[in-house]
Amino acid sequence: MTSQITWYAARAAGIVAWALAAASVVWGLSLSTHALGKKPRPAWLFDLHRFLGGMALMFTAVHVGAVVLDTYVHFGLVNVLVPFTGSWHPVAVAWGIVALYLLAAVELTSLARAHMSKKVWRRVHFASFTLFVLSTIHALSAGTGARSVPFQVAVVLTCAVVVFLTVVRVERSARAVRASGRWPRSSSVPTTGSARSPRTGPPARFSIPAGR
Ligand code: HEM
Repeated sequence: MTSQITWYAARAAGIVAWALAAASVVWGLSLSTHALGKKPRPAWLFDLHRFLGGMALMFTAVHVGAVVLDTYVHFGLVNVLVPFTGSWHPVAVAWGIVALYLLAAVELTSLARAHMSKKVWRRVHFASFTLFVLSTIHALSAGTGARSVPFQVAVVLTCAVVVFLTVVRVERSARAVRASGRWPRSSSVPTTGSARSPRTGPPARFSIPAGR
């Protein structure tokens, strides 16, 4: 009976953790792409993004704790912290372990944001995408729920929203870089046929007027 309770707790907490992590990624992308409108946004919208990430970490802790307590398959502390040290589906579990470390890194750097460089914080924060992909692969390969149609539908719909918002985000960043006239140093932009100043970046025919 106890083993059933811990097993159900592990599964339920895993699904909630995944849903919260996915919601945090979608919410963060909605804010950065202005998908919710261009008006100034109240601080609670950012707080909600942070809250979702924090809760995802909490539920992951419950998930991992229940996996350790579960007696049906034996998982020691080392097996849930070091990839490939357990005998139960080591690859499927390894995705979850790496996702856990990335989630912890994103959360801890967000808490310490005021004390670190924006560049470092941003780089670590971008790991949210990898974390979302890894936790999804983990859920589909380790979980019993992967065979349930509602869960599969939820995963497909969530992935579609994340991919769409990511494409919008990348396109907006690229447009902002072009509008500001900054151009990557390693750019292979052809320079023939137009005057190219070494300081101003791309030739005029590539520049896009600001505001477009
Ligand atoms: C140390 C890290 C982790 C370990 C050791 C671990 C272990 C496991 C195990 C053993 C299962 C199979 C449970 C079963 O169905 O019998 C599982 C499923 C699952 N895990 Fe994890 N996990 C970890 C991290 C994560 C993270 C970070 C997330 C999401 C943010 C996550 C989400 C899930 C989900 C959604 C399932 C599927 C549950 C189901 O289908 O019923 N896990 N995990």
